[in-house]
Amino acid sequence: MAEKMRILILGATGRTGKILLNQALERGYKVNILVRDVRKLTLGNPNLLVFETKLFKEAEIAEAMQGCNAVISTLNISRINDFPWSPLRTPIDFLSRTLGKVVKVCRNQGVKRLVFTSAWGVGNSRQHVPAWFRWFVDNSNIGPAYADHAIQEEIATNSGLDWTAVRPVGLINSNTLKPAKVSFNNQPKPGLILSRKSLTSFILRIVESGEFIGESPTVYS
Ligand SMILES: NC(=O)c1ccc[n+]([C@@H]2O[C@H](COP(=O)([O-])OP(=O)(O)OC[C@H]3O[C@@H](n4cnc5c(N)ncnc54)[C@H](OP(=O)(O)O)[C@@H]3O)[C@@H](O)[C@H]2O)c1
Repeated sequence: MAEKMRILILGATGRTGKILLNQALERGYKVNILVRDVRKLTLGNPNLLVFETKLFKEAEIAEAMQGCNAVISTLNISRINDFPWSPLRTPIDFLSRTLGKVVKVCRNQGVKRLVFTSAWGVGNSRQHVPAWFRWFVDNSNIGPAYADHAIQEEIATNSGLDWTAVRPVGLINSNTLKPAKVSFNNQPKPGLILSRKSLTSFILRIVESGEFIGESPTVYS
């Protein structure tokens, strides 16, 4: 069997990132992670290399990317809790600033494949989300993540890399692993939820297969 690729995961301590990390290791990938707090994870897998950071500096990203064939980011602009007006706990340009550095390091190290989570409602998918959801994006602390995901997508578009911006609908924690479905331009009209487990399975599939390069698929179940 061909040797599995080594992937750098950013966001491995988040709700989606933790599932992604476990799934990647279970499937035999070699994984590097760059995290703020290693205590959030159960470590010890021989295929896992852990790098710590406080500020996601370019040099730290470069060190963590050594030997990798692909990068996945599930970073988020998070709030203190899921209430839409809950205060942000992340700077509003964190995603785009970090992706800008990632793209630079990818180019320097010749890493072509970059997959990151964006969201349904970003870019040309804004017109397709329900009006009530657009209202929340425009009037609550959900908005900054959508705005910064849009900048991330622009950075990726101009990167020259083999990028995919995955736009999930609302994420839920469920152990059921239904294959994610894909929609472009509201065709077909997506369902409103997707489990994080299905999302991470989709991401690993497309990282390796090279599907959806230069595209922003909406994913749902
Ligand atoms: N939630 C949804 O329904 C939904 C819908 C559509 C798209 N998405 C997208 O899906 C992705 C994953 O979402 P999620 O809800 O699973 O994410 P999450 O649990 O909020 O995870 C956030 C991740 O970002 C990191 N992070 C946040 N602020 C940071 C900072 N200032 N510095 C460094 N790292 C920081 C966290 O690191 P720490 O653990 O160190 O804090 C964590 O790894 C995101 O890109 C999100 O926009 C989510």
